[in-house]
Amino acid sequence: MRIDKLLANMGYGSRKDVKILLKQGVVRVDDQPVKDAKRQVDLETERVTVQGEVVEYKPFVYLMMNKPAGVISATEDKVEATVIDLIDPSYAHYDLFPVGRLDKDTTGLLLLTNDGAFNHALMSPRKHVDKVYIAEVDGEMTADDVRQFAEGVVLEDGYTTKPARLELLSKGRRSTIRLTLSEGKYHQVKRMVAAVGKHVERLERVQIGALELDLTLEPGAYRELSEEEVDLFFT
Ligand code: URA
Repeated sequence: MRIDKLLANMGYGSRKDVKILLKQGVVRVDDQPVKDAKRQVDLETERVTVQGEVVEYKPFVYLMMNKPAGVISATEDKVEATVIDLIDPSYAHYDLFPVGRLDKDTTGLLLLTNDGAFNHALMSPRKHVDKVYIAEVDGEMTADDVRQFAEGVVLEDGYTTKPARLELLSKGRRSTIRLTLSEGKYHQVKRMVAAVGKHVERLERVQIGALELDLTLEPGAYRELSEEEVDLFFT
């Protein structure tokens, strides 16, 4: 990749800013100053420094997004805006994809990565990574629903869900629930609530495994996971 593009991607400023750094002679490749913005570099085999600081080769990226409503969990779409459209172009060369899917109208914790092993660690049914949702429901969720969800409910297609933990956060004509699932069937929360005769009006994912949604992220905002957060899924 061209050195000006690489350094811009790695957060050293715009292509223009990077050109200035190059002109200043503070960018070195294998200890030789490089001033040519078009110089091709490969971080796997060459050591690039900026003002003496090594530019780290980072093959994988892990992002936590607070997904807003109205965008789809896909990498591209001819009609709809996707979660990838919300990511800064400086990440484009990483070819990120969403880990699993949230419905267009579902908000909250969505992870994006380019690491297939990470995706597998989260999505494989055999890994049993719990996903936690908060939902606003039209209708009163009851203690009997708690019992039914714990035993498994039969969805409209005949599938019986695995035991799920339902907590009633507020009750009334409308209810707020917290639901912990160990599987991820299509529209699962909405279909489980429908199976007990009620309707999900708003749905947010707040936790995956031990990783909670960072509440400082505004809808549509994202940040990279820390190493500790990534490791939560590799143990
Ligand atoms: N269950 C749903 O119904 N929708 C989602 O987006 C996630 C889980």
